[in-house]
Amino acid sequence: MARVLTGIQSSGRPHLGNLLGAILPAINLTNSEKQESLLFIADLHSFTTIKDPATRIENTKSIAAAWLACGLDTSKSIFYRQSKIPEVCELTWYLNCVTPYPMLANAHSFKDKANRLSDVNAGLFDYPVLMAADIVLYDANIVPVGKDQQQHIEMTRDIAKAFNHQFGDIFVIPEAKIDEEVMTIPGTDGQKMSKSYGNILDVFLPEKKLKKNVMSIVTDSTPMEEPKNPDTCNVYNIYKTVATSEQKADMRKNYEGGNYGYGHAKTALFELLLDKFKEERERFDHFMENESEIEQHLQEGEEKARKIAHEVMARVKNTIGF
Ligand code: ADP
Ligand code: TRP
Repeated sequence: MARVLTGIQSSGRPHLGNLLGAILPAINLTNSEKQESLLFIADLHSFTTIKDPATRIENTKSIAAAWLACGLDTSKSIFYRQSKIPEVCELTWYLNCVTPYPMLANAHSFKDKANRLSDVNAGLFDYPVLMAADIVLYDANIVPVGKDQQQHIEMTRDIAKAFNHQFGDIFVIPEAKIDEEVMTIPGTDGQKMSKSYGNILDVFLPEKKLKKNVMSIVTDSTPMEEPKNPDTCNVYNIYKTVATSEQKADMRKNYEGGNYGYGHAKTALFELLLDKFKEERERFDHFMENESEIEQHLQEGEEKARKIAHEVMARVKNTIGF
């Protein structure tokens, strides 16, 4: 049976990009097909940027609540925190020792983070190797991710192949599953929406705060009366990721017809988000108020994840002579 695996960092609150790019596609894949799935919270990855324990714990809770609110069925999927299975760190070391330094130095996401962040630590540099360990530790075949993670999955494949080449067939070579329709969701400033860029739409906020969040989307200063180009507008570019074709066509007409301001478009987006994520928002609040339910789901998953990790680790260590 094919094994599907994916993770989300607990580096902030879950956002629209995480939902559309990772959480919902992964849940659909798990529920619709007969495959085993592992879905986890990459809290070790988030330690590259988040050092405050309370913040990280709160983020982990909200990411877990988001997975559960979006319909993750823990009787079908193994749901866990990355840090609860420490073998992943041990495996990272073994993989590090077959990973060429230039491959990591050339990673887009490292270069990007190195330019933006003041704390450029070795963990950021080694991030893709920990990610490779996440995947091969569980013999995963399919890794659903957003387009921005494509290079990381290619690196995982290269590392796993290098290891197999040297030691024999130890690891399954995984494939990325990238939904081409779900492109990278833009943030409130038009760049890729990301927890680390402060430009997220947090669909789980209480109504008033969500409205404020939507109103903060950056637009140009075209006057209300004038026709507008939807394709260059952040509001439309976010709207189109959630709207039906009919809603999109109507919205384009509004933009192109004039007498339709960005404020109107933002209100329409806000209402669309409330409508589209009504049930998810209710369930999210439920889980956030009932932390013990989240904990129970995670602990059950961690027991199952640990079992697989032990088996694969034993296979690796036997082969490489530790
Ligand atoms: P962030 O950049 O907010 O920290 P993560 O790195 O934790 O997000 O990403 C978790 C998952 O969500 C990945 O599969 C990633 O591809 C997906 N994802 C993150 N941001 C976006 C986005 N803006 N559009 C589409 N998918 C996204
Ligand atoms: N690096 C991924 C991201 O930022 C999160 C992640 C960590 C992940 N380990 C993974 C995704 C393993 C898929 C598989 O989006």
